[in-house]
Amino acid sequence: MSEVTILKIGGSVLTDKSKEGKLNRKEIARIAKEIASGDVRRLILIHGAGSFGHPIAKKFGLDIPGRQNYTGVTLTHEMVKDLNRAFVKELIENGIAAMPVHPMSCAISSKGRLNKMMTSQIELMIDNGVVPVIHGDVVMDLDWGVSILSGDQIVLHLAQRLNAKRVGVGTDVDGIMDDDGKVITSITPKTFSNIKPLLTTSKNIDVTGGMSGKVNELVKLAEGSIPSYVFNASKKGNVAAFLEDNVDFGTVIRSD
Ligand code: IPE
Repeated sequence: MSEVTILKIGGSVLTDKSKEGKLNRKEIARIAKEIASGDVRRLILIHGAGSFGHPIAKKFGLDIPGRQNYTGVTLTHEMVKDLNRAFVKELIENGIAAMPVHPMSCAISSKGRLNKMMTSQIELMIDNGVVPVIHGDVVMDLDWGVSILSGDQIVLHLAQRLNAKRVGVGTDVDGIMDDDGKVITSITPKTFSNIKPLLTTSKNIDVTGGMSGKVNELVKLAEGSIPSYVFNASKKGNVAAFLEDNVDFGTVIRSD
């Protein structure tokens, strides 16, 4: 398995995060177009849940360990699938052979951490020129019955399992910022302990740890020498630039 690229697009980019269950259709269309203009060979797309996941998960208390509201789980899953369907449809309309992958049906967590995920179907997809489109989801949990699985955890798992060459995390801000709102251009596992207290927390409901949770996952990748780029996917051209391996913006998280 070689040369896999992983790109996660945050739910805050694809949805209107201030209004539950509202697509940001304009942004979905623009991002699908940018992806279609780039190199999509051996690309895995992952997206977050935004207003299709965080508010409903919170409503059913799914962010509380052991809260086994299975009706709420299914309703949340159905809602994140609605977002996935909209994104996949737009990708297909732009000529990309996109295919949905739902973690609830192929992943298990333990105490809220991704424990097992079937990846052979994902590998077959990329071997055959298909772009898998995976998303943050609710999954069965060995210890808690059920838990929320963030797209960021999926990024980490797949990047390590498939030995990704690079990872992109597109958000609605310019990168990882310090508490003065200035973008930190580079983070390494060594500098992370100093930076950690400066990370701003999300102003919207976020059941998966916001920016700090994201960087935690990405620093683990950097420890394994897989570089990742956190950038503003709401800015025109940035997604295309990432796919062209031409990133001179945002934050890079690398081994040293
Ligand atoms: C959250 O996924 C999944 C659910 C709330 C069900 P993410 O944590 O990846 O979503 P975003 O990118 O923050 O919206």
